[in-house]
Amino acid sequence: MSTLTYKAAYFNEFITDVNDIKVGEVTAPVELQPNQVRIEVRAASINPVDWKRAKGYVEAFFPTTFPSLIGYDVSGVVVAVGSEVTKFKVGDEIYGNLDAKTSTGSIAEYAVSNEDVLWHKPTSLSFAEAAGLGIAARTAHQALLRAEAGPGKSVFVNAGAGGVGNFVIQFAKNLFKVEKIATTVSTNKVDLAKSLGAIEVVDYTKNDLIKVLKPEYDIAIDNLADIKPVDILKPKNTPRSKFITLVDPGLFEVHESKLKDLEIDHEFFILNSSLKSFDGAINELLDAGKLQVPIDSTHKFTEQGVRNALARLADGHAAGKIIIIVKN
Ligand SMILES: NC(=O)c1ccc[n+]([C@@H]2O[C@H](COP(=O)([O-])OP(=O)(O)OC[C@H]3O[C@@H](n4cnc5c(N)ncnc54)[C@H](OP(=O)(O)O)[C@@H]3O)[C@@H](O)[C@H]2O)c1
Repeated sequence: MSTLTYKAAYFNEFITDVNDIKVGEVTAPVELQPNQVRIEVRAASINPVDWKRAKGYVEAFFPTTFPSLIGYDVSGVVVAVGSEVTKFKVGDEIYGNLDAKTSTGSIAEYAVSNEDVLWHKPTSLSFAEAAGLGIAARTAHQALLRAEAGPGKSVFVNAGAGGVGNFVIQFAKNLFKVEKIATTVSTNKVDLAKSLGAIEVVDYTKNDLIKVLKPEYDIAIDNLADIKPVDILKPKNTPRSKFITLVDPGLFEVHESKLKDLEIDHEFFILNSSLKSFDGAINELLDAGKLQVPIDSTHKFTEQGVRNALARLADGHAAGKIIIIVKN
């Protein structure tokens, strides 16, 4: 079996400190499965799941073997295709998020992915921006689909300047065409949230969301393991209001009896990375200038650069996506 040696970010055991992440040479088989493509990576973005996985917190969902490469979100250029790949050819510019089960890590010179979770990169988007459209954007999109967002509905999302929250606001406004969007952010992110399309923006450092917002929302999407948004949902609504949390409900008390009394549907939603529901509509929004990828910071593809990026993520206060530029 012939192999390829390349530079990648990885960890050798579950870690507690970003300084335990390494960047060095790894080796992988050259052969591709029939539906896989090899990508020469240009940029990667990171998500809380990368850090949670490196700490061993998501073993129940994504079992790890060591050494484990890190990163799911990717943009780059296709350099090889498997025998049954139909969507791409060598030279195509792509973006997407690597499938959690077969991922080889996107913070790397090369990544291998099933073609289903990759899309053609619109020319209007830089590689750095395209890398930011992976897990966060797809989760926002699928969560809104799941909540049956649409015209006439009102949506609340907390952490509206975060990776997921910013896309919830933009998709709710420009794709699902909902009537009203509310969110919470800290003071210096209020303008960003408004510019993305939020109508009601609560500065959580100054006000309590349940004191400012009325119980007039159909959908609440929770990024923070916070039960409070339930109190701004319409009780006993038809169709029933939806509380969708993206954070493991084991981390907080969900108050099932209260939700039952208020007749509010509750769900812990997890991105289905193999779902093909993220395609032309997104590219149309991008081309029409109705979807931006807010970038919090860009980092170099060096050991220190990757550690800095993870430290920024772990800090929990990013405005938009954290990007690692793998190749200019
Ligand atoms: N279930 C799934 O499939 C799925 C998929 C993707 C993500 N997730 C989870 O969803 C969560 C959010 O992910 P993400 O990528 O959006 O994270 P992120 O980008 O790291 O979120 C950072 C944002 O959270 C905001 N924030 C922190 N505390 C806040 C508070 N008390 N009130 C309002 N905003 C607050 C920060 O704003 P300030 O600086 O203003 O505080 C910052 O903008 C993570 O736990 C992630 O693991 C789950």
